[in-house]
Amino acid sequence: MKNLYIVANWKANINEEEATEWFDFFKNNADSTRGELANKKIIVCPTFPILPFASAYVSLNNLQVSLGAQDISQFPIGAYTGEVPAAIVKKYAEFVIIGHSERRMRLNETDATLFAKVAMANGALFEIIYCVQDENTTIPEGIKIVAYEPVGAIGTGNPDTPENAQKIAAAIKEKNPFVRAVLYGGSVNAENVSQFTEQASIDGVLIGGASLVAGSFTDLLFKC
Ligand code: PGA
Repeated sequence: MKNLYIVANWKANINEEEATEWFDFFKNNADSTRGELANKKIIVCPTFPILPFASAYVSLNNLQVSLGAQDISQFPIGAYTGEVPAAIVKKYAEFVIIGHSERRMRLNETDATLFAKVAMANGALFEIIYCVQDENTTIPEGIKIVAYEPVGAIGTGNPDTPENAQKIAAAIKEKNPFVRAVLYGGSVNAENVSQFTEQASIDGVLIGGASLVAGSFTDLLFKC
C-alpha cells in the first residue's frame, strides 16, 4: 500500500461547536488501530480561529490528524492590519495550503503574491500544499506537495476522470522534479476516491465538500 495524503479543506465552514462534534465523531470512528489508516497522513484544514481549538483537541486525544492552515499572509509579523502571518500560525499547524483557485479568482492572488506566501511559509518551516489548476501552472522551486485541482471540478460534482488526473499528475512531476507528491482535488467523495488514489502518480486527495460531515469523511478514509 502506498502512502497517501488525505486533506480535508473545510474552507469557510465549521464553527467551534461543529468542529467539536466532527472531532468527537472522528475519535470514535476513525480508529487508528485499524490497518486501513496506517498508510494515511490525514490533514484537517479549519479556519484560522478554529486552529488553536483543533490543535488542543488533537493533542489531548492523540488523534491521527495533522493540522493545516488554508492560507497564510504574504507579509511577516508587523504592521499589516488583518493579516495572519506564518510565524504566528505555525504554533497550531504543520501544513499550509497556498494558491487555492478560490483565492486566485476571488481574491486576485497572482503568482507574485503566491511566491511571497511560499517564502513566508518556508521561513516558518511549514509543509506547503501548493494548488495548481493544470500542469502549466508555475510551481515555486522546492515545493514538495502539489494539489492538482481543475477549476471546473471544484464543488460541482463533476470530477476529472482518473485517467486524465493521472496524466496531469505525471506531467507535473516530470516538469518539476522537486515535487514528491501530487494530490487530486475536485468533487472527490467516498464513492470515487479509490479511482484516484489507485493511479500510479497520484499520492492523495484534497477534499472540500465531502470533508464537512465527519461520517462522509471517515467513510472515505476507509475506501482508499
Ligand atoms: P470539493 O473541493 O471537494 O468540494 O470539490 C475541493 C477543493 O476545493 O479543495
